Amino acid sequence: TVGNSTNIKWHECPVEKVDRQRLLDQKGCVIWVTGLSGSGKSTLACALNQKLYQKGKLCYILDGDNVRHGLNRDLSFKAEDRAENIRRVGEVAKLFADAGIICIASLISPYRRDRDACRTLLPEGDFVEVFMNVPLEVCEARDPKGLYKLARAGKIKGFTGIDDPYEPPLNCEISLGEEGTGTSPIEMAETVVAYLEHKGYLK
Ligand code: PPS
Repeated sequence: TVGNSTNIKWHECPVEKVDRQRLLDQKGCVIWVTGLSGSGKSTLACALNQKLYQKGKLCYILDGDNVRHGLNRDLSFKAEDRAENIRRVGEVAKLFADAGIICIASLISPYRRDRDACRTLLPEGDFVEVFMNVPLEVCEARDPKGLYKLARAGKIKGFTGIDDPYEPPLNCEISLGEEGTGTSPIEMAETVVAYLEHKGYLK
């Protein structure tokens, strides 16, 4: 029995991940971007996608806001639904990585245990956690969608950072946004590209 299913069997195919990776000249992996709303996750994801595309590498972005329009449209922002949101995106990201693609998952993913659960789905090294380490005050001052204003006015309940928790990573691979580090989206994307190059994901 797997989950709630019985009588199911795993099927193998002779064309494997290594073959797809050879075809694409890259290694599939998951770049998991976590941080507060307005911390620049989607901007980084897009800048990184562009940089890798220019290098001839195939990427695909799974963005929380976007995935909540389709696959996860049934989920709210209460803790158990956020957990299910992260779990589903983690599983989809794993499939993309298995396809040989560099999958950039960009979600608030406020709970450490939910992110860690996604990490355990992937082979060692294939889950790269990127923390957008931008203080709440900065995110709130930016307020690109006006959501902090609504949350402060009590018009959105359970907004991350205001009246809902955010647990920063303890051991992420890359932390971006602190003073002294490159702060433009392009510089941040370059930091991630350098990491991937160093670890052999771009070959
Ligand atoms: S989570 O916590 O990982 O499940 O969130 P995610 O799927 O990334 O979706 C975050 C976007 O949803 C909008 N939004 C909220 N965010 C936080 N808390 C509450 N209550 C909320 N309600 C709506 C918001 O636009 C987030 O987008 P980003 O891109 O992070 O700003």
